[in-house]
Amino acid sequence: MAAIVINGKEVAQQIQEELADKVIELKAEGIVPRLATLLVGEDPASQVYIGQKRKACDRLGIISDHQTLSAKITEAELLSIIDGLNNDPEVSGILVQLPVPEHIDSVKILDAISPQKDVDGFHPFNVGKFFTEKSFSDMIDKGLFLPCTPYGIMELLKRYNIPIKGADVVVVGRSNIVGKPITMLLLAADATVTVCHSRTRDLREVCRRADIIVAAIGKPKFVTEDMVKDGAVVIDVGVNRLPEGLVGDVDYVNVSQKASAITPVPGGVGPMTITMLMANTIMAAKNQAMGNK
Ligand code: GUN
Repeated sequence: MAAIVINGKEVAQQIQEELADKVIELKAEGIVPRLATLLVGEDPASQVYIGQKRKACDRLGIISDHQTLSAKITEAELLSIIDGLNNDPEVSGILVQLPVPEHIDSVKILDAISPQKDVDGFHPFNVGKFFTEKSFSDMIDKGLFLPCTPYGIMELLKRYNIPIKGADVVVVGRSNIVGKPITMLLLAADATVTVCHSRTRDLREVCRRADIIVAAIGKPKFVTEDMVKDGAVVIDVGVNRLPEGLVGDVDYVNVSQKASAITPVPGGVGPMTITMLMANTIMAAKNQAMGNK
């Protein structure tokens, strides 16, 4: 039976409508959310992502200030730009699009962003906050900055009523941006989580046990139908550019015959990432105005 297609684009639109109303309310109180974005170099994929993020800001009434910086910028120069944005009271959130060129230490860059303006949720302070939190709903109630892609996945699962409590989830990929943080969010939502990676023995067998698979390895069509249990839910985080077009980390055509629900690429997780960035930016603006963070 064909799977339900999890329509991230539609859910993202719904959430963005709610967020646009929040922005109107904030502006009525004199609070104007503003996102500063930095792109170092001219990576075409990063240019697309930044463009999508800025468009979403425009739609929601969030001001976006963008700077494209030379790929030759020094680490010290970039740190000084971030310092300026940290100290600018008009700026609610700061986003440095990754990857940065090799001569720049991305860890140092992410550490330099003020935790109060860290709308990507990548600063070790914010990472520590959600890693030590026991319950996912407490993370939301406490207004923690959650990394946008994992946060978006949790929202998709919630809005499609996919049970997480007690579910066997297999996360394929262990990146700091997706694999590790989604593991912590799912754990806090009471899933049993297994993390797989390039050195995992018998990946196929591990994946076949999963009620939910999260594919975030960056390899086109890596998760094949033989790795998926009948009726599993499949979340595809991959964005791979092939001559045939954009494809995910999941062999969508075949896996969708076996899964009960699946995210497409494009139109699945991607729009949710952008939406949660907007949510984090609005929350940052509000918290800064309240002076309590
Ligand atoms: N590169 C890939 N994903 C992301 C993301 O979520 N945020 C930033 N800043 N860079 C990325």
